[in-house]
Amino acid sequence: MASILGFGGYVPERVMTNDDWSELIDTTDEWITSRTGIERRRFAADDEATVDLAANAAVVALADADLTAADIDEIIVATDTPEAYTPDTASFLQHRLGCREVPAYDLGGSGCAGFVQALDVARARMLLEPKRILVVGVELISRLMSWEDRSFCVLFGDAAGAVVLAPDGGQAEILDVVAGTDGSQADILTLKTGGTRHPFNAESLASGAYHRLDMDGRRVFREAVHRMSDAVIEVLARNDKTVADVALVIPHQANKRIIDAVQQKLGVDEQHVYVNVNEYGNTGSATVPFALWEAKQKGRIHQGDLVALTAFGAGFHWAAAAVQF
Ligand code: ACO
Repeated sequence: MASILGFGGYVPERVMTNDDWSELIDTTDEWITSRTGIERRRFAADDEATVDLAANAAVVALADADLTAADIDEIIVATDTPEAYTPDTASFLQHRLGCREVPAYDLGGSGCAGFVQALDVARARMLLEPKRILVVGVELISRLMSWEDRSFCVLFGDAAGAVVLAPDGGQAEILDVVAGTDGSQADILTLKTGGTRHPFNAESLASGAYHRLDMDGRRVFREAVHRMSDAVIEVLARNDKTVADVALVIPHQANKRIIDAVQQKLGVDEQHVYVNVNEYGNTGSATVPFALWEAKQKGRIHQGDLVALTAFGAGFHWAAAAVQF
């Protein structure tokens, strides 16, 4: 069993609106809102890096759990925009929070599905040994993306979300998680440069390839809808539930049109789907934990509610969780 003791979230203060983008690149508020539903997003301050965002969300989750950093037995950080190339963000976070010398590691490269996958890893770890595990989803995409490529830069924002898990005694139980990967589609959404196949070098620096995301937007769109909705149905069915039992679906917030299509495919009413992509854009692996925390803060989740989390990202990876409050 895995139980959520505390929830946390953090977004940086700096707001970047669509109109702000249209002053920098050839785009319009109308193009961005009609294609994505995104109206604004938050960007980290110059002196903030990934571990700052992660620590801020973790502190909120620890307080919500009524615990201190010393109570944490393991840390998992899901991110594709780490503090450093090596070591992982979790090592920096462990020190920043003042945790004991507990295992701390990243689940990196899972794109936007990383946090829900990390929940699955955490609950499996708790079967071996009862532990309190801090799970964080964090992205600081604005620092690493190209600010000139209008196809991508307008989509993203920076944020962090966190939960503290324990085998029992929390505010909500993770009933189950399903997860999958289709590696045959790894090339559809990828940042190739910087790895061993395409190393970072003078050529990639000069061409700008080091921060160029390859993406077939329409295929990502189709797969995201199909995988996120099917994963919800599967995780519910495995637990003798249907979408009719779900009070709130919290999908990965990539794009309002993707969320609307998931809603239609699941056959649920709009009020049963949580949306904040308009406010924050796509914050990668942070969207689900941040939205979970925000939904609780806004009174959208009540005791007794069944909540479905679902995410999809580069890989392609997908994962969905059934969470009983
Ligand atoms: N402003 C104005 N015009 C733009 C912009 C922009 N910011 N970006 C692209 N365009 C132009 C293109 O250059 C193109 O012009 P052209 O027809 O003259 O060549 C035109 O708009 C249409 O471009 P498309 O890529 O065909 O636009 P589309 O309607 O497919 O929307 C989008 C693109 C929003 C990316 C869509 O494909 C999508 O939502 N895909 C899902 C992918 C996604 O959300 N990825 C995020 C990361 S992955 C994840 O989180 C799961």
